[in-house]
Amino acid sequence: MKLLVTGAAGFIGSTYARLAAGEHDVTVLDKLTYAGRRENLEEVEHVFVHGSISDPGIVRKAMEGCDAVVNFAAESHVDRSIAGQDPFVETHVIGTGVLLEAARQLGVARYLQVSTDEVYGSIASGSFTESSPLDPSSPYSATKAAGDLLVSSHVHTHGIEAVICRGSNNYGPRQYPEKLIPLITLNALQGDRLPVYGDGRQVRNWLFVEDFARAIHLVLQEGEPGRVYNVGGPDECENIDVVRRVLALAGRDESLIEYVTDRPGHDRRYSLCSDRVRELGWQAQVHFEEGLTRTVQWYRDNEPWWAPIRSGEYREYYERQYGRVLGR
Ligand code: NAD
Ligand code: DAU
Repeated sequence: MKLLVTGAAGFIGSTYARLAAGEHDVTVLDKLTYAGRRENLEEVEHVFVHGSISDPGIVRKAMEGCDAVVNFAAESHVDRSIAGQDPFVETHVIGTGVLLEAARQLGVARYLQVSTDEVYGSIASGSFTESSPLDPSSPYSATKAAGDLLVSSHVHTHGIEAVICRGSNNYGPRQYPEKLIPLITLNALQGDRLPVYGDGRQVRNWLFVEDFARAIHLVLQEGEPGRVYNVGGPDECENIDVVRRVLALAGRDESLIEYVTDRPGHDRRYSLCSDRVRELGWQAQVHFEEGLTRTVQWYRDNEPWWAPIRSGEYREYYERQYGRVLGR
């Protein structure tokens, strides 16, 4: 197959491109926002197109001759969506619409939308299935839900062969350090304080990034057109427990923990039922303990990857978000 993979200079997309490039021809379309980096695609055979999924001309050129599209392109951080929603609307709503329209016009055989468990909102007990109602809380999740609804509308109205994968919280190598696990890992390694929102008892369902990439590849090939597939991680964990585990792996004590003002509208717990993707033969292979050990080790070993981030735009973001200056 010839695949167009959008947003593949980011965390999950680059992991997916690494997996898919062994079997298929990969073209990457990426805008290279603050989160997109060409280095993430080192050693991945691909054709690179620089541009936005909301630009119809560039999208059409990049998509011509492709058999399938996998759309990872996104603004992926909830806190940034609370600070300003415009790029979230532009990429998740306008951008998804442009991709779908091009896929329809060019007769692309398969389209996969990468989405998130956050579209369902928070759940106190039990787990969301694919037929649970959408009830997003943040501008990030609301615009992701809008993108999903556009995909479904193109399936119903135009008959395009699209599937949606809703993943839970990913972690692993090459994740931008605005997200909880890489942020606290680097802060712990550097001796900076670890900011914990609210009481730190929020629960997330952790999924190692390579497991998500494998699920996406399986659903692209075997998923039933028009269906949604939840992909949840094998382990649920309270944030404070994640923080304590990372401190132990980094060899630091708990005096670095700092409770800070909670995220507005903070979802308390996410949980997904993943029976449908399991029926296709997927199973998570990496449990949290192993995945977290591998992740902390990766950040220890890859300072040339993260040092430029911690000295650039991220420093200003950190100061705005946390009201404190990051150490070196
Ligand atoms: P990321 O922020 O690391 O990467 C996003 C990539 O998209 C970057 O390379 C960026 O340059 C690119 N991009 C942004 N806007 C673009 C545009 N308009 N046109 C082209 N490229 C654009 O994000 P990630 O964590 O790898 O997430 C990838 C996808 O997976 C997103 O759709 C996200 O909603 C979804 N997802 C993420 C998680 C998670 O825990 N990170 C979990 C479930 C689903
Ligand atoms: O659930 C899937 C989603 O997971 C993806 O769709 C998003 O793209 C991804 O960013 C992630 O969203 P979260 O908001 O859950 O991830 P984040 O890493 O920002 O936060 C995880 C938890 O940790 C959440 O409860 C907020 C908390 N947190 C986060 C940060 C950055 C803190 O306590 N302190 C922090 O500094």
